[in-house]
Amino acid sequence: MSPGCETGSGKANRRWPTSSRALGNLDQGIALKRRIIEDMRPTVLANFGLVTALRSLADDAAQRNGWTLEFQLPDDDVKRGEAIEIALFRVAQETLTNAAKYAQASRIHVALPLDAARVSLHIADDGIGIQPGDLERTHRHGLVGIRQRVSARSGRFEIERAISHGTSIRVSMPRERLNALPEVNANA
Ligand SMILES: Nc1ncnc2c1ncn2[C@@H]1O[C@H](COP(=O)(O)OP(=O)(O)O)[C@@H](O)[C@H]1O
Ligand SMILES: [Mg+2]
Repeated sequence: MSPGCETGSGKANRRWPTSSRALGNLDQGIALKRRIIEDMRPTVLANFGLVTALRSLADDAAQRNGWTLEFQLPDDDVKRGEAIEIALFRVAQETLTNAAKYAQASRIHVALPLDAARVSLHIADDGIGIQPGDLERTHRHGLVGIRQRVSARSGRFEIERAISHGTSIRVSMPRERLNALPEVNANA
């Protein structure tokens, strides 16, 4: 007989710890499920679209790190396809995390250039600049995930140390063919 099913005086009290443990497990299960769903599709992305999601991601990081932000984001949040949007959001997360950990930056530039054929993201910091040796390490550590995500969508990923200072990343991927996607005006 399991402890939760025990009856009789004295033993009845044990039901409570067992029930609260069960509830605790349930809570943990729900929290885990939320985290998994959040990992697959960040809520802010699903609810507000890529432009707002990038803005809020950068705003939060800027607040924590004392950065000044420069945005070059389109006004209208054209749908770019779920997989591409998630990939770009993850790239931005990793890049901003790296900037916070290593760059000692004061300004961060985030751009989502509009292009009829490709979806691109550019993030630059004005920090100490990635070291040439570290550029090789980007094939092994956190940035490797970015490379994989991007190449899985036939995209390009470039990271470079700016000539004066700072680090910049550029990602671009071919647009997904979506039936519902309106023609994008390259001059917009
Ligand atoms: N914005 C940056 N400024 C300076 N150095 C950086 C920047 N981004 C990454 N790096 C360097 O490149 C290395 C590789 O980055 P990454 O692949 O994300 O690995 P990790 O963050 O796990 O160390 C980092 O360890 C760090 O030394
Ligand atoms: Mg990293």
